[in-house]
Amino acid sequence: MNKVEQELEYMEKVKEYHQGKDVKYAIFTMGCQLNENDSEKIEGMLVGMGYTKTEDSKQADIIVYNTCCVRENAEERLFGKLGEIKKQKEEKGTVIAIGGCMMQEKHITEKIKKSYPFVDILFGTHTLYKLPEDIYHILENRKKIEDIAYIDGEVIEGIPIVRGDHIKASVTIMNGCNNFCSYCIVPYVRGRERSRSPRDILEEIESLAKQGYKEVTLLGQNVNSYLRVEREKNIPFEEYRGVNSFATLLREVNKIEGIERIRFVSPHPKDFTQDVIEAIRDCEKVSKIIHLPLQAGSTSVLKAMNRKYTKEQYLELVDKIKREIPHVVFSTDIIVGFPGETQRNFEDTLDVVKKVGYEQVFMFIYSRRVGTPGDKMENQIPEEIKHERFNQLKALVEGQMEEQNKTYIGTVQKVLIEGTSKNNENMLTGRTDSNKVVILEGDKNLIGKMVNLNIISEHMWYLKGEYRG
Ligand code: SAH
Ligand code: SF4
Ligand code: F3S
Repeated sequence: MNKVEQELEYMEKVKEYHQGKDVKYAIFTMGCQLNENDSEKIEGMLVGMGYTKTEDSKQADIIVYNTCCVRENAEERLFGKLGEIKKQKEEKGTVIAIGGCMMQEKHITEKIKKSYPFVDILFGTHTLYKLPEDIYHILENRKKIEDIAYIDGEVIEGIPIVRGDHIKASVTIMNGCNNFCSYCIVPYVRGRERSRSPRDILEEIESLAKQGYKEVTLLGQNVNSYLRVEREKNIPFEEYRGVNSFATLLREVNKIEGIERIRFVSPHPKDFTQDVIEAIRDCEKVSKIIHLPLQAGSTSVLKAMNRKYTKEQYLELVDKIKREIPHVVFSTDIIVGFPGETQRNFEDTLDVVKKVGYEQVFMFIYSRRVGTPGDKMENQIPEEIKHERFNQLKALVEGQMEEQNKTYIGTVQKVLIEGTSKNNENMLTGRTDSNKVVILEGDKNLIGKMVNLNIISEHMWYLKGEYRG
């Protein structure tokens, strides 16, 4: 029996334990898209155990927190929520389980055990699949469980999944990161890079297409180094339909009937090889917005960050991609206030932003992470300077966005209609290939369809469109 089959047995046992009682779960997902995809698997297991979902955590028999630790505010959010839940735990006996990246940090699990002793289960990123077993043991003998492995996780296949959406789906293709950027905690909490087999990925996407999904996002902390470690270290893997790299994977996914749009996050500039650029160019379903995390514009800051490229190399890569792929646009991640960043260094960041003209910039204030080299650097930047730089960058980006939004007016955009607008039930909402939100008036039977829209106006965070067929 493999590991997941064993867990499926535990799922049955939990179901039997509840004897058909109406038991409910609530889940809080606090991290990135990979973390969200893990939550879909957690939900798959909970549903398999007979729990049904509630949005009201007060009604829940089990509450699961899927945590993130990439920045400090993610931690504060968890502790805030745990403070609120104590009373419910005492009154109702709700099972409390905390999983995800934060649980791979020893100083955090120690703090939880000391300050929030009512938490029942702590599980890590490598032991997610064992949740049924952990829940069963808690229900049977009420003994606290800490199920965290400080190993490089294996690739676990076959965990049941309940997806949050019926049109767009995320598919994790690789896990872990080997890059060790000096500010980042991810390699410590997610372990080393390992890729899923091409067969498992393609079969999953084919099954999604059969279920009617139209868009897939391929996920990985370092998505474009898919199968790189396996190739370089001669770790055997089964080549399937000629897939042995990220570029060949894109080409095969592009052939899957029913899938109309393919996205991927997050690539690293150093792995943006010629074959990847050509695959994006040739595959009509692959979105032509490329997320190319910059982090900082200054070569010396990039060196201190261990990013493995210079300002010039980054800009050359952007130019090369622009030359090869017509109408390509970019999005990026930027950190301000990394240790030692001077005003002049920061101006290099502004300079790159001006030169590239991103569609979307995810901006972050540097946050010290215990255990990373950045945390030990002595030249930390004062908070007020970090905030000043952040605001300066934000003003530049918002100005650029406004200009860019204007260029959409009068154009025809292919938009995948995702549902009704959150703010107005009578409006539909969707996204362009470049990931811009578009709202429009239209019939609900357009939901799930890729349609052509005339863009008629722009409003900072969204565009307005008109259906043309
Ligand atoms: N693997 C991806 C995403 C990593 S986390 C990548 O390399 O792009 C997402 C973003 O969070 C990073 O790109 C970075 O901009 C930001 N980030 C990571 N660690 C951070 C820290 N300590 N402080 C502030 N932002 C951070
Ligand atoms: Fe973190 Fe860098 Fe790895 Fe991205 S590439 S997850 S920023 S260490
Ligand atoms: Fe956070 Fe873990 Fe994702 S630290 S950003 S949830 S990989």
